[in-house]
Amino acid sequence: MAKLLVTGGAGFIGANFVRFWRRRYEHDELCVLDALTYAGNRASLSSFDNDPGFTFVHGDIRDYDLVTRILRDREIDTIVHFAAESHVDRSIHGPDEFIDTNANGTHTLLKAAKFAWLDQGSGRTHRFHHVSTDEVYGTLGPYDPAFTEHTAYTPNSPYSASKAASDHLVRAYHHTFGLAVTTTNCSNNYGPYQFPEKLIPLFLINALHGRALPIYGDGQQVRDWLYVDDHCLGICRVLADGRVGEVYNIGGNTELPNLQVINQLCEHLDALIGGDPELAARFPDSPAARGIPTSSLKTYVKDRPGHDRRYAIDTGKITSELGYRPGHDFRSGFAANLEWYLKNESWWREVMDGSYRKWTKQQYGK
Ligand code: NAD
Ligand code: DAU
Repeated sequence: MAKLLVTGGAGFIGANFVRFWRRRYEHDELCVLDALTYAGNRASLSSFDNDPGFTFVHGDIRDYDLVTRILRDREIDTIVHFAAESHVDRSIHGPDEFIDTNANGTHTLLKAAKFAWLDQGSGRTHRFHHVSTDEVYGTLGPYDPAFTEHTAYTPNSPYSASKAASDHLVRAYHHTFGLAVTTTNCSNNYGPYQFPEKLIPLFLINALHGRALPIYGDGQQVRDWLYVDDHCLGICRVLADGRVGEVYNIGGNTELPNLQVINQLCEHLDALIGGDPELAARFPDSPAARGIPTSSLKTYVKDRPGHDRRYAIDTGKITSELGYRPGHDFRSGFAANLEWYLKNESWWREVMDGSYRKWTKQQYGK
């Protein structure tokens, strides 16, 4: 039986990971440590309230004493580290929090792990798995080969620079101290519980309200899209059979220009809402409810400063070494995702208007 500490488990990927893990390993102990920033939502984990193998700790990864205590008292053997400031636009407006959380926070966790697992010398098998991003590799031209694990780091935003710093620290703690680490660098995730500041949920919810869809620059930037469960699957494969000290890239082999994703979203909504009077009544401000194409909301706005043009992931290593293969194609994953947001209106309304914080207080006294 494994005892996991999942940092950032109330965020988008973390909450999906906890679900994914529990479906596979029903007897493992899961402890989530999350500071519940604007992006963390305790309600995303409420289905675990009666799970005796699940604990939620409201706290900060930068709190060395707290992390050390959790590692010791709960005899944690595996850290899966998601906690981060994750939104590129926010890092442009306010980089400080990104350096504090992503670089310093990761360092605090590493120090605590070293103390608990190496200095205190229990000799127990342990793993520090660091969840990182393809953005550390910088940007690609249209004909450049995809990022491999050997591509030079060229982070372009304060977000990606702070993640690059954390990747280097993780590597150094393995090289210098022998901490058993693995790192994954993944492409753009989409799926349930994603905070509506990222492209897909933001555009979806804007469209439902008849608000503009703000396309940065010419909309021809390319991202590789991966359904969130397939990211979780990749992390599970690395935890199970990945080589300690190694880095694995995870991607969906689905490079798409933003405009193509946006057009697909618009067409889906036209079909869904146009063909369903009940949905049309729920979202009367959406163009589709009034017989107008959702694409009429597309609005070109000033580009993101320093905007990376293209990301692409070479998944050769994780595929050949660990037999990794994503289970969802973009079409089916995307449709499932839209359906989830339409079914879970209360979730996104609450995260957007902050009322989930009140709910958390009532429910958990925090
Ligand atoms: P998110 O913003 O949805 O969630 C981040 C979580 O971390 C939140 O629950 C937040 O409360 C928590 N957190 C933030 N600061 C904290 C702190 N100091 N202490 C404890 N908890 C804190 O992010 P996400 O999209 O789920 O991303 C998770 C991880 O995956 C990040 O490390 C990100 O860099 C990486 N990643 C994300 C993507 C993507 O497409 N979203 C792709 C590749 C890698
Ligand atoms: O590549 C992995 C990264 O993917 C993760 O490390 C980040 O945490 C995650 O946020 C994501 O970063 P991006 O910047 O690619 O995601 P975002 O959803 O913010 O934007 C996707 C693309 O859409 C990007 O080219 C910018 C564009 N965009 C985004 C927003 C929010 C718009 O055109 N308009 C928008 O309003």
